[in-house]
Amino acid sequence: MDLTGREIVLGVTGGIAAYKSAEVVSRLRHLGANVHVIMTKNATEFVSPLTFQTLSANQVVTDTFQAPEYWNVEHVALAKLAEVFVIAPATANIIAKMASGIADDMLSTTVLATKAPVLIAPAMNTGMWTAEATRENVQKLKTRGVHFVGPDSGILACGDEGAGRMSEPEAIVEAIRDILDVRRDLEGLKILVTAGATKERLDPVRYMTNDSSGKMGFAIAEAARNRGAEVTAVYGSVTAPVPEGIRRIQIESAQELYDTMMHETPDQDIIIQAAAVCDYRFEKTSTSKIKKAEGESLTLTLKENPDVAKAVGAIKKKGQTLVGFAAETDNVRKNAAEKLKKKNLDMIVANDVTLPGAGFNVDTNIAALITKDGTEEQPLQTKRELAEKILDKIIELRK
Ligand code: CTP
Repeated sequence: MDLTGREIVLGVTGGIAAYKSAEVVSRLRHLGANVHVIMTKNATEFVSPLTFQTLSANQVVTDTFQAPEYWNVEHVALAKLAEVFVIAPATANIIAKMASGIADDMLSTTVLATKAPVLIAPAMNTGMWTAEATRENVQKLKTRGVHFVGPDSGILACGDEGAGRMSEPEAIVEAIRDILDVRRDLEGLKILVTAGATKERLDPVRYMTNDSSGKMGFAIAEAARNRGAEVTAVYGSVTAPVPEGIRRIQIESAQELYDTMMHETPDQDIIIQAAAVCDYRFEKTSTSKIKKAEGESLTLTLKENPDVAKAVGAIKKKGQTLVGFAAETDNVRKNAAEKLKKKNLDMIVANDVTLPGAGFNVDTNIAALITKDGTEEQPLQTKRELAEKILDKIIELRK
C-alpha cells in the first residue's frame, strides 16, 4: 500500500487507449492512492465517465454539462491538490495546447494551473507522433520539465505500425511512482510522531494552550508514511489536517499525552516528539463554569505537568531512536543541547521561533539538527522538506 493518501490527478483525452487508463486508475487505487479524473469531451465518447467514477470512487470532472464559471473553482482545487498530474492517453492536441499554454477546457485549464510534476503518456497515430509540430511541442514540454512515458511501438488501432501506442498501465504506474520518489527506506519500522498543542482545562469553557498547528509533526508523519513506515500520530489541538493512512490517537492534556506515551513507547522503533506540550496545568479545575466575582481579582495557581519527553527518555530501550523539538527564543543551540541530554534524546530539532519563516503556524521552518556529534544547520525550507531531512538524519543515526 505504498501510495497511501497520495493525491493523483489523471487527465483522460480522446483516444482509443482511454480504456487502458481505467486500469491505470484501478492499479493506483490498489496501491492506496486517491485518484481524481478529468475527462475531455472527446474522451467521454470513448469511455463513460461512470467507469472512471466507479473505479476512482471520486466524482469525475467533465466539461459536458458544466459552464466555464464552474471550471474556475474546480480547476484551481484540483491543480493545487495534485501531487502528480498525469495525462493518459495524451493526444497530439492536448500536447500542442500545453506547449502553447492554451486553456479552453477543464483539463487544459487545470494542467496549466498546476505546480505539480506532470507526466504525459502520448497515444496517437505514428504520423502524428513523428510530425514536426508534435516533435517541437514535445521538446518544448521536456525543456519545461514535463515527464513522458512512451509511446510504445507496435500495431496501432488505425492499422499502421510504428511509434504511437500508449504505454501499458503498469509502465505508467511505474513512472508515477518514480516521480513521487517513493523511497521505501523506512519499511518495517514503527514510527510515532506527536503533534499539535496540549490543552489544559480550567473549567468546561476555558483552557490554556499554545499556537502549535500540528503542521511540523504531520509533515513528518506524512513523509514517514510515504517512505514505508508504520506511523502513529498522537496529536492534541491542531489546525492542520490530520494525515490519512496512519494510526491516529487524539489526546487533550499533557497528562493524557503522558499516559498515551507510556503505553505506546515500548512498541516503537522511532519516536519524534513535535508536540508543543504545556509545561503547566491549573492546580484546581472546576466541572462547572467559574463565575465572575465582581470587583475582585482572580488568582489561578499553575502546577507542573509531567515532562513527557523526559519520561519517554527514561524508559528508552536499546535500538530505539528518540527525537525531540526545542522551540527557543534565546540561546537556541545551548538550550537545545541541554534538552538533548536531559531528555535522553538522540537528536533535537532546534527552532528559533522568533525568526520570520520559522516556528508555529507557518508552512516553513529554519532549524538546527543537534546530535551528540554535532549540529547540522537547515536553512529556510518547507516543513515537508525539513521532515525528509529529519528522517534522513534518523536513518543515518540508526546505522
Ligand atoms: N516536552 C514534553 N513534555 C513537556 C514539555 C516538553 O514532552 N512537559 C517535549 C516537547 O515535545 C519537545 C521537547 O520536550 O520535544 C522540548 O520542548 P520545549 O517546550 O522546547 O522544552 P521544555 O522542556 O518545556 O523547556 P522550556 O519550556 O523551559 O524551554
